[in-house]
Amino acid sequence: MILEDRTINSFNNTINKLHTEANQPVLEIWGRQQLSGEIKVSGAKNSALAILAGTLLCGEQCRLSNLPNLVDIGRMSQILSALGLKLHRNGDILDIDATHITTSQAPYEIVSRLRASFFVLGPLLARLGVAKVPLPGGCAIGARPVAIHIKGLQALGADVFIEHGVVHANVKGRNGRLKGTKIYLDYPSVGATETILMAATLAEGETIIENAACEPEVVDLANFCKSMGAKIRGAGTNTIIISGVERLHSTDYPIIPDRIEAGTFLVAGAITRSEISVFPVIPEHLTPVIAKLEEIGCQIIAEDTRRLRIVPKELKGVDIETLPYPGFPTDMQAQFTALLTTCEGNSIVTETVFENRLHHVAELQRMGANIKLKGHNAIIKGVHQLSGAPITGSDLRASAAMVLAGLAADGKTLVYGLEHLDRGYENIEEKLRGLGAKIRRLDSLSQELHLVGV
Ligand code: EPZ
Repeated sequence: MILEDRTINSFNNTINKLHTEANQPVLEIWGRQQLSGEIKVSGAKNSALAILAGTLLCGEQCRLSNLPNLVDIGRMSQILSALGLKLHRNGDILDIDATHITTSQAPYEIVSRLRASFFVLGPLLARLGVAKVPLPGGCAIGARPVAIHIKGLQALGADVFIEHGVVHANVKGRNGRLKGTKIYLDYPSVGATETILMAATLAEGETIIENAACEPEVVDLANFCKSMGAKIRGAGTNTIIISGVERLHSTDYPIIPDRIEAGTFLVAGAITRSEISVFPVIPEHLTPVIAKLEEIGCQIIAEDTRRLRIVPKELKGVDIETLPYPGFPTDMQAQFTALLTTCEGNSIVTETVFENRLHHVAELQRMGANIKLKGHNAIIKGVHQLSGAPITGSDLRASAAMVLAGLAADGKTLVYGLEHLDRGYENIEEKLRGLGAKIRRLDSLSQELHLVGV
């Protein structure tokens, strides 16, 4: 039989795809396992990333504790080292000495792999009067523009222009200090609020940020800066007032628990219909997540001030729309979408914060979910049972959603895309195994094929 070239090509493409997949690390999950016990939450990734950048504001030693052990934290630490800071990590404690900053230019090769590294722009500009930071690329969930950050720094008196993909910023005027002013944000951007807040701590005079983001991570950053002597009022509201000071002093600061990791684990309990506890948490950071879990049909019990227990009852579909805090968090959207595919009845999930954050819908369809995309909406009709399959997470929270779907699905699920998952979840398979989940990390499927002698 003579095979046409086309057939041979498609055969080769399939083999190559299988070979590529076979050589990627993968999480193997056997679903429908009842979970029980308590799961520990690490420090908040999105607080830690902004606070790490904030250490540039202080010309002395800072100590951060409850720092999560994540790929993104490692990358941000590399950037700070490249800028001349001295870092020493010991478990969840990181000592940072920012006495000497040796360059005002952040290295492209690291910035291009961590969007949050753009956070160093404001502190560098405030501390040195000059900063050069490559534009962060977009990512799977959207273009991720930074115009609001740049507009805010220009309002504070900086000259900012973009050349060859690098943001060049320098402070006009003799004394090299930014000048406080009133700034209205076109959108309550978390990152832009944090950039402007950090820059304003060392500016001359008062800065008022209106339509500011209210996320707990913004409050944590403000509290970190205040622990170094910054004068900040109103963090956590839409109007933040910063009175600039000449310099900031050292501090020893604990990062808050990660509300998104905590929410992800609560959903692990709901999707497997298991009673589990999650600790430590700050319950008021989870208000929209708790409200939606209760509306779906879970009882959420505060076992003490920092421990929540979830007790799933009869679960039913609900509608969800993501919004800036205190609205429902976009970082929990993929996880709840996975959960709702297993809940009786109809649900509509609307993503309003990012333009492209529904990639997980296609993967859930492959697991037998009755879900379809309609613009920025996922239209869901709950099914009785998802079925295990090889699936790929395309971004951090989509990967978490794939793990959750695997915990509920019948049979084996292989979750690819761990390079995304490891950016935001510390030892997720160990933590879930501690609840009784049948989950393990294979360095590559060929390892498994080798093990079984295939
Ligand atoms: C932070 O991203 C978080 N990342 C994101 O978490 C989170 O999803 C997001 O806030 C919203 O809560 C970190 O803190 C490191 P935004 P950020 O600026 O600051 C648009 C995760 O999974 N926008 O509030 O980039 C933007 O395009 C990550 O942990 C502009 O248009 O979010 C988006 O549509 C993902 N111009 C919307 O605002 C700007 O200058 C919200 O973005 C800035 C933002």
